Order: sequence, then C-alpha cells, then structure tokens
Amino acid sequence: MKISVIGAGNVGASVALKICEKELAEEVVLVDIVEGVPQGKALDILQAMPLNGSNARITGTNDYSQIKDSGIVVVTAGVPRKPGMTREDLINVNAGITKAIAAHIKANAPDSIVIVVTNPLDVMAYLMMKETGFDKKRVIGMAGVLDSARFRTFIALETGDKVEDIEAMVLGGHGDSMVPLAEHIKIKGEPINDVLEKEKVDQLVKRTKDGGAEIVKFLKTGSAFYAPAASVVEMVESIINEDDKILPCSVYLNGEYGYEDIFLGVPVKLGPEGIKEIVMLELSDEEHDLLDNSAEEVKKTISVLK
Ligand code: APR
Repeated sequence: MKISVIGAGNVGASVALKICEKELAEEVVLVDIVEGVPQGKALDILQAMPLNGSNARITGTNDYSQIKDSGIVVVTAGVPRKPGMTREDLINVNAGITKAIAAHIKANAPDSIVIVVTNPLDVMAYLMMKETGFDKKRVIGMAGVLDSARFRTFIALETGDKVEDIEAMVLGGHGDSMVPLAEHIKIKGEPINDVLEKEKVDQLVKRTKDGGAEIVKFLKTGSAFYAPAASVVEMVESIINEDDKILPCSVYLNGEYGYEDIFLGVPVKLGPEGIKEIVMLELSDEEHDLLDNSAEEVKKTISVLK
C-alpha cells in the first residue's frame, strides 16, 4: 500500500506521522507547494521510525508525479481558519487549491480512494468528486469521526466515564449546523438521558458544535490538527482492515436519507473499495429536521461554487 498526503502543514504532517508510526503503508509520500517543507518534515518523520520500530518509508516532494499509483490520497492542503471565521469563509481560496489538486490526483493516482480534509469540508469533497470524476464510493470527507470524537470527549469529561464506554455520533455538515445525535448517546449501553439532565446534554451538544472554534480561539493562527489527524487515520485503518466499524463520514448522497446531489455526514462502513455501505439509522423526527436544516446549509455553500 502506498499512501500520499497532500499538504504538509499541521494536519498533513500529523497524518503522515501517525500513518508511519502505525506502519499502515510501506510507502508514504508527503506533498506540498512550498519548497523544502515536505522534504524536511518527511525526513524528520523518517528519523523517528527506528524509535517506533516502524519500517515505513516516507518521502517529501513538490512533484505530484511522486503520488503515482497511491491506494489512498489524503488531501489536507488549504488555508485553515482564524478566530472569528467560519469554515465557509475559506471557500474561495480552498476551492482553487482543491481543483488544482484534483487534476493532479486524476492524472497520477486515478484508482485511489481520496479522503478530503480541507474545509469547508462537505463542499470540498463535492468539488473533489466532480473534478476528479471518481466514482462516489472513492471520495470521502473526514468530519463526523472528528465531531463524534469531540462529543465523546466532552461527555467523558462530564460523567467521568471511560471514552470507550461512550457511544455517540455526529451527522450532517461539518459546520455550525452539524447534528450531534443526542438521542443516540449511550454510556455503558444506557441512554444518556438516564444519566444526565437534558440541559446538561444540550450544553455538551453545543460545545461539540463549537469544538473546532474553541480551539481556533486558543491557537489564533490556525485550527485543530491532532484530533483531525487521528480521525483521518481511523478512516484509513478502516479502509485497509475492512473492520466494518460504523464511521460517520461525509459522502455523496443520491437519495439516501432523502437527499440528492450533496455530500453530507452519515454513518458508513469503509473498505478497500472505499465506501462499502451507507448505514441507514432510525432517526427521530427532531433529528431528521436538524439533518434537513444541515443539508440546506451545505447546499447553500455548494451553490456558491456553481
Ligand atoms: N498544493 C499543495 N499544498 C498546498 C497548496 C497546494 N496548492 N496550497 C496550500 N498548501 C499547503 C500549505 O503550504 C500548507 O503547508 O497546505 C498546508 C496547509 O497547512 P496548514 O496551514 O498548517 O493548515 P492545516 O491546519 O493543516 O489545515 C489544512 O485542513 O482542517 C482543515 O480547515 C483546515 O482547510 C484546512 C486544512
């Protein structure tokens, strides 16, 4: 397996490091537009491998021909948020970058599965699919895994339970309209409403929605990257191992959940062909309304591109 990571910034370099540490690929290629940055970071990561007992090989380059025959391409290139910005504010600059990268992927890695991380996520994933012309199964946006991990974190901080005992899922667009499924949260198999007051649950939902902005406010010059990188790696592992984990990912919907021609976060199973299955969850009327609202918001942003 060869995995390429486009964008050697905070998210991209963290993804490449984790992939090498876990030896998920024999060959990793880190690409960036800035000369020297991917080369330097790749060499630094490579020199950490003896300490990890990993024989993964990573190279950094500015030359897209190096991504040739990659099985997976992770796209993290683009501008991150600054305080006060929404993900949607990034659309113009990141759409140009995504289009250029799509052409390189199409030319050099035509059989790859593409994981999109660049924001605004659902719109960039849509653009990637249209520009590469790839089958809808092979373009997947990373958002729900991250938003769900944030939700589980906040629940665990509140209840003191172990994160592995908490099941929670966030669907919808990766923006202010995301839908943390409060009615689906389980703590050691018990519904959260039996453990916490509704008001408390509402606060956790709100903190999850603002999870990215909370970090941007602290960092001031960029956005989160450790948890986003870990979320990408969770998806890469699921693709490689075909472990049938149900992961919320932004995928192209053509009628599923009642939506057409849109990328939106829904539960899926991943495998070597990309998306193996879109899992249909029973949603309450309230959850469906929230998902409708989120789909509307994503459609509005997609329409900016057209
Ligand atoms: N080709 C390749 N790399 C590019 C290009 C391009 N056309 N344009 C920009 N880059 C690179 C930059 O040089 C930089 O190294 O993308 C990298 C982005 O890194 P950071 O600025 O550190 O941003 P990061 O935090 O990694 O976020 C990247 O992921 O989570 C999203 O909102 C975030 O859209 C942003 C993306």
